[in-house]
Amino acid sequence: MSRYAFLILPSHNRVYADAAPALARAELAVLSAALPDGAIDEESVAETAIGGVPYVTFEADDLSPRDADVLANLSSLYALFEVVGDLPRPVLQPVPLRRLDRFDDDLLTILKYPGKTNEQFTKLLLNVTLASSDIAGSDDVVSGLAGGLGGRRLAVLDPLCGRGTTLNQALMYGFDAYGADVDARDVEAYVVFIQRWLKDKRLKHQADFSPVRRDRRVVAKRLRAEFAAAKDDYKAGDVQRVDVVEADTIRVGEFFKPESADLIVTDLPYGVQHGSHPAGKPQQGRSKPAGRRPARSPLELLRSAVPHWAAVLRQGGAIGISWNTMVARREDAAEALAASGLDVLDKGPFRDFRHRVDQAINRDILIARKL
Ligand SMILES: C[S@@+](CC[C@H](N)C(=O)[O-])C[C@H]1O[C@@H](n2cnc3c(N)ncnc32)[C@H](O)[C@@H]1O
Repeated sequence: MSRYAFLILPSHNRVYADAAPALARAELAVLSAALPDGAIDEESVAETAIGGVPYVTFEADDLSPRDADVLANLSSLYALFEVVGDLPRPVLQPVPLRRLDRFDDDLLTILKYPGKTNEQFTKLLLNVTLASSDIAGSDDVVSGLAGGLGGRRLAVLDPLCGRGTTLNQALMYGFDAYGADVDARDVEAYVVFIQRWLKDKRLKHQADFSPVRRDRRVVAKRLRAEFAAAKDDYKAGDVQRVDVVEADTIRVGEFFKPESADLIVTDLPYGVQHGSHPAGKPQQGRSKPAGRRPARSPLELLRSAVPHWAAVLRQGGAIGISWNTMVARREDAAEALAASGLDVLDKGPFRDFRHRVDQAINRDILIARKL
């Protein structure tokens, strides 16, 4: 067994206040099951002060470089060290990190708006969902080769995508990004953002945002874009795709083929903006200023939408949702997922993600697999 220690990103401590180390431990525990070679001793994961600075420490059978590639993507990880020698003055040997990230992080951080799901949390939810699917630990995903599996690019669907935090995190990892949102302002803001970003980064791309017609009636609007990080990839057709519809989430099956998404990652409306904060100034994590909230409660929305989401999810894929436990109980949200035949992962570290966002939001996550 070797000992390791990692520093948590300073911004993580700001976002999650006291919850950051506990969330880091839970994420590490879930990701450890997805390591291609080594194994982390879950019991050993702890918070340890070294030189007066808090680290998350753990023991593992010698981690391979491929294992380190998986851990490099932990949403909270700043730097990873192998700990040699004993406390209080061990030697910290840096472990080289190769993250999946393939673009500048302004893809995730430029866009700021009320109701944005914070990007570190979005990355955590995507990581934990990916680690729970049957593609976790596969060579191609680990190395980020083509962002996919056997040459096939992975696709992530956020069926309540807002202005695209999950979509952008998926693109950052080299995956395709599919989305749906009923709010035209959100979808249009995302369309403007992503086109601007592609131009600013001088990435070879094409993008089209236009009405979808059936029987001469407009039934939705849809953004379809494709781009590549390098010109030669674009020429060779090795492109990443963005496909976002402005439509109710229960209609995802009209736009996306059955079993076409490897992962579904989404953040339900928080449903708590009833006048406690002035419109236009919702707090971090809140879904919308007053007056723009959806008609259905988050739980009703979940119950009506999961059957449609599950149909679009590939067998072996996983779904990760986050929501406010002040408006829907965990058991009820789990039941909504199980009712569509999804296998809810509700043991061990999967129960350790609950954290306080503010006085009106306690956020939790649930992960389920399509067997
Ligand atoms: C918590 S927000 C998601 C925020 C998003 N993760 C982001 O960072 O921009 C929930 C989203 O669900 C959308 N929504 C609510 N009801 C919907 C429905 N029936 N169909 C599609 N989208 C819906 C809202 O418009 C809102 O954008």
